[in-house]
Amino acid sequence: MTKGSPSLSHVPQHVAIIMDGNGRWAREQGLSRLAGHQKGSEVARDIIRAAADAGVGYITLFAFSSENWRRDPDEVTGLMALLKHYLETEVETLHQEGVKLRIIGERHLLPNNILALIEDAEAKTRTNKKIELIMALSYGSRAEIVNAAREMAQKVRDRRLEPEDITEEALSAHLYTSDVPDPDLLIRTSGEQRISNYLLWQLAYTEFVFVNKYWPNFTPQDFLEAIEVYHGRERRYGTAA
Ligand code: IPE
Ligand code: IPE
Ligand code: MG
Repeated sequence: MTKGSPSLSHVPQHVAIIMDGNGRWAREQGLSRLAGHQKGSEVARDIIRAAADAGVGYITLFAFSSENWRRDPDEVTGLMALLKHYLETEVETLHQEGVKLRIIGERHLLPNNILALIEDAEAKTRTNKKIELIMALSYGSRAEIVNAAREMAQKVRDRRLEPEDITEEALSAHLYTSDVPDPDLLIRTSGEQRISNYLLWQLAYTEFVFVNKYWPNFTPQDFLEAIEVYHGRERRYGTAA
């Protein structure tokens, strides 16, 4: 670990990140938005490694939201091409580094060729143990909760679930993140301070750290500093101070 990084016992088990600011970074550099996304994907690679080295167990990255489909078609096409390239070129390295990959989101909306690459990557890395990388792609938290509600309603209709069995645990178990602990720390870059339909249920007691840097400028050192800030927080879960 680098000097000044927190001790392993205080590392959050699950870190969720909203990787925001690629477009604004690109504009400042006089580059295309897509060049910003390209640089952003390189930063993601470094941060995944830093998280694994620090002993984080789960890292969830918001890479593309349900609402992002409404962006200019050229940007959406470019992002899908970048994602395809990322999966084609990075999965082997991730696998060798012990990363287990999983995608959460509305899979049926993703192009078939990308879906196939995702399924291959998930199968290949399924038993890896170093860190779990969860990529939120075509992800919207409200859609996820609606989907869970619909699945439970279906089970009630089929007499496989009683209405009184619809508990917090049961709802959690029907989310994409059913077997993942809730995030301990949420980091959002770019200076915006909002959730943008990310993990609404799972973030109930998560600590938020907002970083005033565009994602392409975010470094492993910034990541470790966010963990330091987290370490200084007192989590109360509703109990008295
Ligand atoms: C985050 O950067 C990446 C995606 C949403 C795909 P943005 O593209 O939102 O960048 P800004 O917020 O416009 O600067
Ligand atoms: C959230 O960022 C989604 C991702 C980082 C992938 P956005 O840039 O889409 O969110 P808003 O529009 O600022 O809320
Ligand atoms: Mg943005």
